[in-house]
Amino acid sequence: NNFVVIMAGGIGSRFWPMSTSKHPKQFHDVLGIGKSLLQMTVERYLPICDEKNIYIVTNENYKGLVKEQLPNFSDDQILLEPSRKNTAPCIAYAAYKIHQQNPEAKMIVAPSDHLIMKEHEFQQTIKAALTAADTLGQLITIGIKPNRPDTGYGYIQFENGETNVRKVKTFTEKPSLDIAQRFIDSGDFYWNSGMFIWSSATIIDAFEKYLPEIGKLFNDIKDDFYSTEEEASINRIYPLCKNISIDYGIMEKAEHVSVILADLGWSDLGTWGSLYTHIEQDSNKNAIVGKNVLTYDANDNMIKVSDEKLVVIQGLNDFIVVENEKTLLICKKRDEQKIKQFVTDIKSKK
Ligand code: GDD
Ligand code: MG
Repeated sequence: NNFVVIMAGGIGSRFWPMSTSKHPKQFHDVLGIGKSLLQMTVERYLPICDEKNIYIVTNENYKGLVKEQLPNFSDDQILLEPSRKNTAPCIAYAAYKIHQQNPEAKMIVAPSDHLIMKEHEFQQTIKAALTAADTLGQLITIGIKPNRPDTGYGYIQFENGETNVRKVKTFTEKPSLDIAQRFIDSGDFYWNSGMFIWSSATIIDAFEKYLPEIGKLFNDIKDDFYSTEEEASINRIYPLCKNISIDYGIMEKAEHVSVILADLGWSDLGTWGSLYTHIEQDSNKNAIVGKNVLTYDANDNMIKVSDEKLVVIQGLNDFIVVENEKTLLICKKRDEQKIKQFVTDIKSKK
């Protein structure tokens, strides 16, 4: 009865220009190890869940990429969205569909842009989360000890206790820097890892309570799942769905949330800065992808250029330099959250 739902429809705009809306980061071999982030995510769940119970939710434009990267997956396992509505509709689609066939189902919802180094701890944590979802009947999150006031994450405040399963007091998605700093200073908060574990029944109840418009749209088409009507019905309701993430739409509001405090060697490969910390650095702490790069008096840079190009960099510190055929990006590492805005600006100019 365990299902894994992998969310793979984002565009990863903070990883531009490598990640683009045509070929987003989850389909890239970001680490240069011969596997895409999506393939790594699927592999991570194979010891926990039958492959046929792993579902991918993505935009219909990426159907070809998913089929190419996951040739064993049947069409029923690939849920296609006609438009981008963020993670709440994506999760509703999977939950209502899975529930229709398996009212006892438990779901593990996972992003496709993560790195998890401690496999054994990861498997233990997911097992504990499945048990907690069952016995507590709650929405279960996995919390990661924070080490900086990153404004790209959700922050979870939890109750004191003896075990690593704790009742959640507050959930705050993407706070401002001031507030994130206060959270870190207080020591009472963990980051939301972005993985969620719950029964399909519990999350459907939460949709009915906190996002009833979305809940109703999917409830009304539930008889069409696994039939030839599914695609048409999905295409009809998606334009009517609110565009909202599960974090803002449900997790911030729900009262029955618990967190498992975990140490998984987790990191979010969300930005160039996070990739920087995961690839080998030279003696001047430059992380360089590209065969012909010469650096002089340059430190702490993230550099990714094509192998064919000769690149010389002098006197540059703490920058992101990324190049491909069409684009060159040069951006201060500490301002990397702004890349999302650059992408929006470029789109609006086109
Ligand atoms: N199918 C589908 N459709 N997937 C989507 C969509 C969509 O419209 N939008 C985003 N996704 C996928 C992304 O590809 C990614 O794998 C996952 O959903 C999470 O979306 P992000 O856009 O990467 O979210 P985030 O990183 O800003 O924030 C989330 O993750 C953080 C940890 O990495 C939140 O859950 C935060 O609270 C959390 O701390
Ligand atoms: Mg992310």
